[in-house]
Amino acid sequence: MEERRFGRRLVLASVLAAAGALAASGTALAQQEHVGQYSQADINFGMSLYGDNCVSCHGPGGDGVDGVNLRSGQFRAASSDYELEQIISNGIPDTAMLPGNYNEAELAGLVAYLRMMGSLDASDATIGDAARGEALYNGKGDCASCHRIGGAGSRTGPDLSDIANYRTAGAMSGTLVDPTEAMVPINRTVRIVAGDGTRYEGRRLNEDTYTVQIVDENERLVSLVKADLREYEILTESSMPSYADTLTEQERADVLAYLLTLKGVG
Ligand code: HEC
Ligand code: HEC
Repeated sequence: MEERRFGRRLVLASVLAAAGALAASGTALAQQEHVGQYSQADINFGMSLYGDNCVSCHGPGGDGVDGVNLRSGQFRAASSDYELEQIISNGIPDTAMLPGNYNEAELAGLVAYLRMMGSLDASDATIGDAARGEALYNGKGDCASCHRIGGAGSRTGPDLSDIANYRTAGAMSGTLVDPTEAMVPINRTVRIVAGDGTRYEGRRLNEDTYTVQIVDENERLVSLVKADLREYEILTESSMPSYADTLTEQERADVLAYLLTLKGVG
């Protein structure tokens, strides 16, 4: 275990060194239109995945496969990000480029890294430590007071058991700093006054034309018929606190590294 981690760190270090050398040498014009489009969190995550899964063939500088130069910004088999994701997921038939099983966060990270490989300033790359992140999640961050992972914790915030399957590193990193800005519509808190005057505030689990299901602040599941409601308000402010000041940048990177390991069971 120790040995394996050490090995991975070495690979990552050589990727970092190559990326730093390349950053100094200037970049292909093709990439510059992408600068700023990818979040640093996605790029960092992609770099660590590249070190684990791609460097063995493509090399630290992206030119390890004959005729392929990943850092040039020019791909023979892809022009859009979507096409890059397709290649990474499905491979290229009859070649050594095999299919890979990557989730949403991983695909977004790999594409961001491939796009930025040539212009990356490796000194910006902070990759967190998932074990420290887990400790922060349960300790200083007090995340379990609102969130649930694998059945443990609270239901007042979204279940995070498989969050990495449908959110990117960039989106999760945004949530930690500015939850309201990063909030997706279904996660908006609703405030309801029912026909009998009962007040509810909570998180929507589901909503259709006629009914709405929420988890209220006491973690109870409530299903209500919309036509019976006296008031129904959707709040656009997140009830999650910002961790911009309560956690350091390194601590947020650690928590993010932990969130990126959450892929559900199986
Ligand atoms: C076992 C070796 C191997 C591994 C591991 C591998 N690749 Fe490849 N990859 C190749 C080969 C060989 C090709 C060229 C296939 C061809 O001839 O079209 C290729 C092609 C590609 C291309 C298309 C390049 C172009 O110019 O269109 C992309 C993008 C790519 N790989 C990304 C990745 C990423 C990202 C990873 C890691 C998640 C990865 N590859 C892992 C061998 C590998
Ligand atoms: C006071 C309750 C509360 C605390 C404490 C809290 N959260 Fe949240 N969190 C929420 C709520 C409510 C949402 C849904 C609204 C939103 O996206 O902002 C949310 C959303 C999120 C999301 C996005 C979920 C999605 O579906 O996109 C992530 C990731 C997240 N929280 C992680 C954390 C982490 C990590 C911590 C601890 C460092 C934390 N939260 C602490 C209440 C909380």
